[in-house]
Amino acid sequence: MLGNRSPRDWLASLPDSRICSLRWQSILRYAAVAFVVSITLSGIFLFRRPEGFLRQSGSHYFEYFWNQTSDHPIDQLISDAHTYHENLLKDRSFDLPTAAARYRERRDRHPPPGFDAWFKYATEHDAIIVESFFDRIYADIAPFWGLDPRTTAERAASWDYVVRVRNGVANGTGDTTGKVPWLQLWTGLVNEAAPWLPDVDMPINYMDESRVIVPWEDVTSLLEKERESRSVKSTEEVVTEYSGLAPIDADIAAKGDTVEPYKPKWWGGNYWNLTQVACSPESPSRDATPIENIEQLPEFPDHWDPEFAYKGYVRNLTAAMDPCTQPHLRGLHGTFIEPLTMATSKEIIPLFGGCKLAVNNEILIPGAMYLTDDPFYSGGDTHGPPWKQKIDGVVWRGVASGGRNKKENWAHFQRHRLIEMLNGTTVSGMEENNSRAMTFEMPPVEKYDFPRRREGTIGAWLEEHSNAGFVNLLCFPGDSDCDYVRPYLSQVESVPMMEQYKYKFIPDADGNSFSARFRGLLLSTSLPIKATVYAEWHDARLVPWLHFAPMDNTFQDLYAILDYFTRDKKGDKSAQFIAEEGQSWGSKVLRREDMLLYVWRLLLEFARVCDEKRDMLGYIDDLRTA
Ligand SMILES: *[C@@H]1O[C@H](CO)[C@@H](O)[C@H](O)[C@H]1NC(C)=O
Ligand SMILES: *[C@@H]1O[C@H](CO)[C@@H](O)[C@H](O)[C@H]1NC(C)=O
Ligand SMILES: *[C@@H]1O[C@H](CO)[C@@H](O)[C@H](O)[C@H]1NC(C)=O
Ligand SMILES: *[C@@H]1O[C@H](CO)[C@@H](O)[C@H](O)[C@H]1NC(C)=O
Ligand SMILES: *[C@@H]1O[C@H](CO)[C@@H](O)[C@H](O)[C@H]1NC(C)=O
Ligand SMILES: *[C@@H]1O[C@H](CO)[C@@H](O)[C@H](O)[C@H]1NC(C)=O
Repeated sequence: MLGNRSPRDWLASLPDSRICSLRWQSILRYAAVAFVVSITLSGIFLFRRPEGFLRQSGSHYFEYFWNQTSDHPIDQLISDAHTYHENLLKDRSFDLPTAAARYRERRDRHPPPGFDAWFKYATEHDAIIVESFFDRIYADIAPFWGLDPRTTAERAASWDYVVRVRNGVANGTGDTTGKVPWLQLWTGLVNEAAPWLPDVDMPINYMDESRVIVPWEDVTSLLEKERESRSVKSTEEVVTEYSGLAPIDADIAAKGDTVEPYKPKWWGGNYWNLTQVACSPESPSRDATPIENIEQLPEFPDHWDPEFAYKGYVRNLTAAMDPCTQPHLRGLHGTFIEPLTMATSKEIIPLFGGCKLAVNNEILIPGAMYLTDDPFYSGGDTHGPPWKQKIDGVVWRGVASGGRNKKENWAHFQRHRLIEMLNGTTVSGMEENNSRAMTFEMPPVEKYDFPRRREGTIGAWLEEHSNAGFVNLLCFPGDSDCDYVRPYLSQVESVPMMEQYKYKFIPDADGNSFSARFRGLLLSTSLPIKATVYAEWHDARLVPWLHFAPMDNTFQDLYAILDYFTRDKKGDKSAQFIAEEGQSWGSKVLRREDMLLYVWRLLLEFARVCDEKRDMLGYIDDLRTA
């Protein structure tokens, strides 16, 4: 197809529209994804090429070239993200012995029994297996190595909502009448792996909010025990069969109806208080008391240059989620202001859920919403029109969730802030009067310096390019008629996800907990701009600035990010590139099969940590035959 010409020459000979239409032809899709990427990139990165940015991808060499000098920090971040991801993929395992060896190297233990069936399924379903994609599992399970296995197993078995696996069948137990069908969705997923799973119980959290926060000192001591227990045993010592849960089942059967779920003491009150004690003694949040007067408008950190950001832009989203390093989050996120429901345990209990804060001790599984086909979350089968046909603008629709917003506290909620920030009328007024809004201050021009900011035309730009609003203000009390927010926010018509995908940019902010539309956004051809304090199962497999654009939880970088992507042709191409990379990568690693493999691996580990013989349990067939 190329003849003797280099991809670059070939690209140069094409009119722009042709590149775009070619991008969408299925012939090319199969012609090698890396090749298409190189073509797209050649067009995108018409700016200076950072040192050593020549990479090999699969069997294809491709080159990025930066002719025009540009020193926007986001250029560097995109380039770094690409390099990071390429390096990550070098650790992909294609066969069982390699996967097992990488496991031992990274985890300092043998893989759990059943690892072979797990890997076989992965191979048969073309799953991309990189050991570090599963790091989350090990961080979540680690404290339970510090707990007696029987204790963990009993607590898991007695919870109100449990996915139970016995003899290769999963059964969801618990009364879900009148509740969302999460138990059913999770049971359905686990059932696909159940034939290969040992007996295991997966107790699940039925609240939106995460609810286990163990104080830092206690977690530290549990983690120390885990570290001591870690070792790769000699093959003679290894036990390859799980003990099973018969003793626990017999115990429960003997107690009959008198069996009580294990319930720790539940804490309510102020969530920030509980968060603080889970932060290390050196962290700035440890001694930061809750906001005294919540009626005061939220404050933003001054001269703030955190390690997780590069020149004002988030580089490491995981680190950017941590409330311990960001005391200002106590005043800028509904979770720390007034969660809708709150019953928090300071004691470690096994509880599985779709998201958690950096300070929580839940065990993460893919959010149940990711398992539905409900187009409300996913937009259904449509992923939006090609980039060139998209509306040059920002869209957001949703409800004013995030916690209980009331007259005295609403200005501290993240979604309210996002909507006010995207309101052209509001922003024009601020620019005119050099004033602040209820929920935010204008980002400092010394930090985010660009023409629209200097000239005071962000508001005008938003008026033309932004379509954002709440479809329900969720005021409290319900009969307040929302008097307190009406001057600043109004309720607008909803826009289905598939219509939203017609816009180029879709910001994504937390609600009461994580935003369940993120997977849909990634799989769309639009560019998600994501801020969150909630960790999810997939974090290690997604790379910010390659698969989506990350945003700080203050949103102070929002305008500068939008400016970068809309200021010129290069910005637009970069946005298109990230949107399409996110979609193509997401369709490889965020599939139902990938969620199944994650949960499957997790349950092998959880069954092991609940097993009396856990220190000896392992998969070693690869070593025996070697
Ligand atoms: C970039 O460099 C190549 C070769 O060095 C040149 O052919 C091309 O015209 C340059 N493009 C721009 C936009 O300057
Ligand atoms: C699932 O559990 C329920 C009790 O909650 C029980 O009645 C039912 O028989 C179980 N189903 C299977 C297939 O074990
Ligand atoms: C927690 O926060 C409240 C303010 O919301 C404060 O009155 C209380 O003393 C704090 N400390 C504890 C230990 O509850
Ligand atoms: C991001 O930050 C987390 C938490 O601080 C750290 O563990 C991780 O290694 C960092 N990731 C990268 C890619 O630097
Ligand atoms: C800005 O000032 C004008 C005139 O003083 C006033 O009418 C308008 O309401 C102000 N806007 C905001 C957002 O404060
Ligand atoms: C935008 O802000 C104005 C006040 O500046 C407010 O009246 C309007 O309701 C807001 N729009 C939305 C969609 O919230």
